[in-house]
This record gives sequence, structure tokens and C-alpha cells, in this order.
Amino acid sequence: MRADRVWRVARIAGALAFVAAVIGAAAIYLGVYDVAADVPHTRPVLWLLGVARDRSIAVRARDVRVPADLLDTARILAGAGLYDDMCSSCHLAPGMERTEISRGLYPPAPELDRRRDLTPAQSFWIIKHGMKMTGMAAWGRTHSDTLIWDMVAFLQRLPALSPDQYRSLVKSAPANHDMMMRGQAAR
Ligand code: HEC
Repeated sequence: MRADRVWRVARIAGALAFVAAVIGAAAIYLGVYDVAADVPHTRPVLWLLGVARDRSIAVRARDVRVPADLLDTARILAGAGLYDDMCSSCHLAPGMERTEISRGLYPPAPELDRRRDLTPAQSFWIIKHGMKMTGMAAWGRTHSDTLIWDMVAFLQRLPALSPDQYRSLVKSAPANHDMMMRGQAAR
């Protein structure tokens, strides 16, 4: 292609990009996109957000080092207590009815007793850092890495648990939440 043609194509592409940006900005300013949690995303937006979320997590979880004792019973029990206290209201648990908050969340909080395809490193990263605009909090602001790994350890077991097994693990948790929080510096 001759240089003047390349230049003309580039100018047309630039103009189109500018028009698209102006239309996009106007649509945002006019409030065209509905942010209500009771109106689902359109398919393209859902797809785009899903890819962005999955890639963001996959890339960041690469540097997370998984502890060797992840499947220790002590960790799983501690994680069961923490999960029941802090997570089950949104993510539910075996034998648990849907809660009011779980019905209203959008994006919905996945039921973590169904098998997930997250690696332990990815689960750790999500629990520690949370996710923007989803209701999933960054628990690393208030909890040590040790306690977060306890929850990851428990999540590995969760899909295989019956309601009775779930309740008995929670009952055998080492201490209540506040005591675990106080003890977290010592572990
Ligand atoms: C206020 C509700 C709420 C609470 C409480 C909550 N989460 Fe979440 N969580 C969410 C939502 C919503 C998502 C989905 C975000 C998305 O995928 O867009 C999520 C996603 C996750 C995921 C990723 C699941 C997947 O397969 O993509 C994990 C793991 C997770 N949460 C663990 C936890 C743990 C552990 C706790 C307790 C410490 C917790 N969450 C507490 C709302 C909550």
C-alpha cells in the first residue's frame, strides 16, 4: 500500500474510534446502562466481565505459593468455623436454605458446596482481595494469610460434605471466630 493510502485509512479508523468513544461516553452519561442488581447484564457485557475477571484472577494467582499443610485436619476445622460465620450467609452450605442476601446478590454468590474449578491459589487470591462491584469482600484487610488458607483448605472439602458432616465439622471448629482472630498473630 502506498504511504498516502495508509495515512487515509489511519485517519478514517481514528475518526471512527472517536465517534464510538463519543457515543459510548454519551450513553454512560445519559444513564443508558442499568446498574440495578435485579436486571441481569446483557450477554456481551456478562461475557466481557467474565473474561476480565477470570484472566485477572488467573494472572495474579500465579505468584501465590500454596502451603504444604493445606490438607491438615486442624486447618480444615478452623476453616469450617470461619466459613460458617462469615461466608455461608451469601455462599450457603450443605442443608442450608437460601438466605435473603443470597437471593438479592448480583452477580450471585456461587454456592461453594458445588464443585468449583478454581485452584487453591485462585481461591486464596479471591478471598484475600475480594472482587470489585460484586459484594465479595477483601477478607485480607482483616484476616491473616493463615486464616485465609484455613478457609481454602475447608473449601477443598466442602463439595463432598453432607449436611450432617458439615454441621459436625463446624461444631468441632477449634474456637469461635473472635478467639481465632485474637489468636491469628500467634499462629
Ligand atoms: C456479601 C456476600 C458474600 C460474602 C459474605 C462472601 N462472599 Fe464470596 N463471593 C460473593 C459474590 C457475589 C461472588 C461472585 C463474584 C463474581 O464471580 O463475580 C463471590 C465469589 C467468591 C469466590 C469465587 C467463586 C467462584 O467459583 O468464582 C470464592 C472462592 C469466595 N467468594 C469465597 C468466599 C469466602 C471464603 C467467604 C467468607 C470469608 C466469602 N466468599 C464471603 C459474595 C460474598
